[in-house]
Amino acid sequence: MTGTVSQYVANIDNLPVLPEIAQKVIALADAPRPNIAELADLIQKDLSITANIFKLINSGYFSLRREIADVRQAVVLLGLQQVRNLVVTMVSVNHFEEPPGSPLKLANFWDHCLGVATITQSLAQRFKFGEAPNLYLAALLHDVGKIIIQCHYPDDLSQIVDYMEQNHCAMVQAEQAILGFTHAEIGGVLAEKWQLPSSVCEAITYHHQCQKANDHVFAAILQFADFITKGRLQAVYGDQFTDVVFDDEPCWKILKQRFAAQNIDFERLLLEMDDEIDKARELVRQARGS
Ligand SMILES: [Fe+2]
Ligand SMILES: [Fe+2]
Repeated sequence: MTGTVSQYVANIDNLPVLPEIAQKVIALADAPRPNIAELADLIQKDLSITANIFKLINSGYFSLRREIADVRQAVVLLGLQQVRNLVVTMVSVNHFEEPPGSPLKLANFWDHCLGVATITQSLAQRFKFGEAPNLYLAALLHDVGKIIIQCHYPDDLSQIVDYMEQNHCAMVQAEQAILGFTHAEIGGVLAEKWQLPSSVCEAITYHHQCQKANDHVFAAILQFADFITKGRLQAVYGDQFTDVVFDDEPCWKILKQRFAAQNIDFERLLLEMDDEIDKARELVRQARGS
């Protein structure tokens, strides 16, 4: 056992930061009276982010009828929160570095995170859940605690990996046994340090135990999207022993109950999500600028 999760994060010398532009864009977009001109100027200063955003917007990803070539126009058409999320996506995917020999491959890691982010958007739409923009942000960064363990605590990572392999258990169980907490809680502490919205920090903290979150519906959508993505797109290192029976999962029970009026057909919902996976692949491609 290693002390508290806060100490674990506080003991890191060069704590990973969200790049300044992402933090500024979040602050500007979430301000009580957002200044669109200021936001657009800030984004346009970064040519590669701007180019990647336009490529994505005009790729058919958003099914817009006309070509967009101006950040202000993008904000008007897509909304501030959507543009905020695009910037944070483009910045995050290309920001963190992978230590040599690491079992957690960052390319796979971001494929997974963008898959979960895309699926949460689509579930939020399907359920008519109003918090979609923050859900996207939470989904994009939900597993960021894994980066902390792999980059800053390689000895812990190898103990966790050994434990998982010996016990054929999920990474969260191994983390709990070795550290006394999980990557979800580590990610939550980091998200607070990055001053992300409180609903985002909470959902990251509870993305493996949505029933414990105050807003357990928000966290349940994230956890459900995580399960769907693991099964369909890309599992991150540490997910390979996860076997899910949806009927037993609190996230599915919570969603079924909360959205009972919508008579959700589970099998159909999963089929609908298959289409979203292609969108996630497009997002991954554009975010990498490839
Ligand atoms: Fe996770
Ligand atoms: Fe995940």
